[in-house]
Amino acid sequence: MKRIVLGVGGGIAAYKACEVLRGLTESGHDVRVVPTDAALKFVGAATFEALSGHPVDTGVFTAVHEVQHVRIGQEADLVVVVPATADLLARAAHGLADDLLTGTLLTARCPVAFFPAMHTEMWEHPATRDNVATLRSHGAVVAEPAAGRLTGVDSGKGRLADPREIVDVARLLLARGDALPRDLEGRHVVVSAGGTREPLDPVRHLGNRSSGKQGYALARVAAQRGARVTLVSAHTDALPEPAGVDLVHVSTAAQLGEAVDTAAAGADVVVMAAAVADFRPAGTSGHKIKKSDDDPDPAVELERNRDVLAGLVARRTPGQIIVGFAAETGDAEGSVLDHARAKLARKGCDLLVVNAVGEGGAFDADDNTGWLLASDGAEDRIPLGAKSELAATVWDAATRLLGGAPVR
Ligand code: CTP
Repeated sequence: MKRIVLGVGGGIAAYKACEVLRGLTESGHDVRVVPTDAALKFVGAATFEALSGHPVDTGVFTAVHEVQHVRIGQEADLVVVVPATADLLARAAHGLADDLLTGTLLTARCPVAFFPAMHTEMWEHPATRDNVATLRSHGAVVAEPAAGRLTGVDSGKGRLADPREIVDVARLLLARGDALPRDLEGRHVVVSAGGTREPLDPVRHLGNRSSGKQGYALARVAAQRGARVTLVSAHTDALPEPAGVDLVHVSTAAQLGEAVDTAAAGADVVVMAAAVADFRPAGTSGHKIKKSDDDPDPAVELERNRDVLAGLVARRTPGQIIVGFAAETGDAEGSVLDHARAKLARKGCDLLVVNAVGEGGAFDADDNTGWLLASDGAEDRIPLGAKSELAATVWDAATRLLGGAPVR
């Protein structure tokens, strides 16, 4: 159990902090909520007290004998601020300490992550850009906000990231405080995620069980490390959209291949995390296929889909890094690693993430484990952990290989 401070700024998105609080306590952590006075105009202290099981104060003059404005920050394993308003970012960047939350931010020596929410004009204002840059230079994570509906009729960049995504990033920072450096700034990365569907008739398809969680974690971590991200997503409907990524929805393997190929031109890194169907029905019926007692049962004839990853490798631009995924089982021919090494050589990609089927990290699970193989012979075991931890490991390896100037 870790100690988390949940700072809450005074914006309308403060109500979403309750969902973040719920997610963090359900992950088994002890969460202390420290709102600003303005935050309590949106959500009452009673709500935060009931959900956290701790008293809620905003100022430095309550429980003075406990020196709360110093102790809360010193004892924390993680501080997350949800929502971080333009005003709060400004006060934190300049080291003001006129309430309990800003005092806590100054005394915390653990990872600190701000999740901004404000109107687009405020987010884009040079004052806010400077404050964000200052906080990042101090080592804080200032997450990318999402784009979409803002308060009232406006929409644009500045919406609070989805609470499930905030909980995921918080858990990543608890596991690895250094997981989100801004080392992908100026880079364009492409990630495919989910499972393709090949239609048989208007109501049926051939599909697979990929949830898209691993691909989404890769996209999320890349965006928070500063990359421009194109996420090509096949049937991942239940997942929260990662903040700050360009999302392209596809269905079939052919559509996925086309979208990935288009996005990959000029990209620095392409990660093929999607489960792409190797075969499609040779023909798609325009009407629902009916069963009949008179006719023989229909057989489904299949034809091969092209290998998208192989095409990327064949057309790669100099310096572009290509990452493949493989699910393997050991058999009489060799172990999981033997098969994986052979596949890495055959596919010609730079990195291959290998999941041993049946070894934890199943379809739709939140955790994953496996091996990361590199074409230079490096082999690293990836311990069982959240899919965003595996994602951070992949980006660590990809950025090491990238070096130099962005691919253009
Ligand atoms: N892939 C692809 N296009 C396909 C099939 C797979 O780009 N038509 C990509 C996947 O996104 C993944 C990698 O190739 O990155 C997986 O390779 P694949 O050879 O399909 O792996 P397995 O399904 O494990 O293959 P095999 O049945 O050959 O062991």
